[in-house]
Amino acid sequence: MSTEKKFDPAKRKKLNNPIRLEWLPPERIKALLEMQGGKTYLDIGAGTGYLSREVAAKVPGAVVHTLDIEPLMVEEMKQSTGKGSIFPQRMERDILPFDDAIMDGVWSITVFHELGKARPLLREVRRVLRPGGRLLIVDWEKKEEACGQGPPLDHRVSVEEVVEALREACFSDVQVMAGFTHHFAVLARN
Ligand SMILES: C[S@@+](CC[C@H](N)C(=O)[O-])C[C@H]1O[C@@H](n2cnc3c(N)ncnc32)[C@H](O)[C@@H]1O
Repeated sequence: MSTEKKFDPAKRKKLNNPIRLEWLPPERIKALLEMQGGKTYLDIGAGTGYLSREVAAKVPGAVVHTLDIEPLMVEEMKQSTGKGSIFPQRMERDILPFDDAIMDGVWSITVFHELGKARPLLREVRRVLRPGGRLLIVDWEKKEEACGQGPPLDHRVSVEEVVEALREACFSDVQVMAGFTHHFAVLARN
């Protein structure tokens, strides 16, 4: 990964802007992943955990693991008042600290463009997802931003690149889904 593509943790408060709940509706994330109470989910690159908490709050009884490679982000996640059952922890790059096939769904929001080579992480996602479990990737549209936020255009990935990466990683039913303002969403099954 080229380090300049990585989100600067010093700017982490930007992730807690409530406008993001309109752009990235937690209800839509829940619906796409068909989230239910009693099931186990994973948010990769959860940042401050702002969106993770809002999604978890919509699914009472669900367990949501939130991972990030940045210690500062994980500290912040741990300090934030919990909504729902959230379990933050730090991850090493491309290593998901879970047993095989224990996740019912996995999501990752505005992280894919920071990954560089996505393949090793996608392989790990396939390992921890149960057969038939869903993966949702959401990232910034690769076009000039009306809202003036998000990474520079040349740091972004196109929706086609994400679709291709998921197909190459042998996910099935890879589909582009609507419902986000400045972002695209790609849903796939293990
Ligand atoms: C733009 S922030 C998005 C945070 C959160 N998903 C949200 O939308 O509020 C990107 C996050 O991904 C994390 N990240 C970048 N590369 C990662 C990787 N390879 N594995 C896990 N987390 C990563 C960064 O540390 C940062 O917290």
